[in-house]
Amino acid sequence: TMCSLEDAKKVAAFKAVDEYVKNNYIVGVGSGSTVVYAVERLAERVNKEKLNLVCIPTSFQARQLIIKHKLVLGELEIHPQLDVCIDGADEVDENLTLIKGGGGCLLQEKIVASCAKQLIIIADHTKNSVQLGDKYKKGIPIEVVPISYVPIKNKIETMFGGELVLRMAVAKAGPVVTDNGNFILDWKNFKQTKDWQKINAEIQLIPGVVETGLFIGMAEKAYFGQEDGSV
Ligand code: A5P
Repeated sequence: TMCSLEDAKKVAAFKAVDEYVKNNYIVGVGSGSTVVYAVERLAERVNKEKLNLVCIPTSFQARQLIIKHKLVLGELEIHPQLDVCIDGADEVDENLTLIKGGGGCLLQEKIVASCAKQLIIIADHTKNSVQLGDKYKKGIPIEVVPISYVPIKNKIETMFGGELVLRMAVAKAGPVVTDNGNFILDWKNFKQTKDWQKINAEIQLIPGVVETGLFIGMAEKAYFGQEDGSV
């Protein structure tokens, strides 16, 4: 039997929480629609198994999820070392290089993940690629300081090609403003490459670039919920 995309997200999220979260853990809570199921499972396990967890949010959304499920809300200032971080991704390649930031939360996601011993990715099967750009066509998100969006767009297009598009808000006449008060440029039609490490490093050196949605060498494992309900 074929299961829905929502079911695929749910089975991946539940399995990751069951296999990677243990008592007394400091847990990073990612952002997006798949993480909703992970938080649901965290709350179930806290209630049933009386787990003692502290949850560190990666976004306004994650913070709201933690509060809604009455989990213990922590912050990096008090808990700078996490045992595990569980997060979604927009695309995952065969080396576990990720594109993240479809929901605009890449900066805090990368900060929190960088503080965790393990980053575990949860996703449905549509996120599983061989090379970045195989499947996800929304581009690579780059968070930038507002005054720099045009120079950064021009520089990256000249250096690497493709097109950078300022992400616009839906229920507002204007750009998306991130949880950190920045703008997002979505880098579309980029060339497929195996050199993301180098390209990412060069982009991060451009003044005004706050962070990129490329997560390289960070993820330990990715769980993909499949169409048949397996993970
Ligand atoms: C948020 O900014 C993103 O990095 C998310 O982690 C990513 O978009 C995954 O979201 P879904 O679980 O909704 O696909």
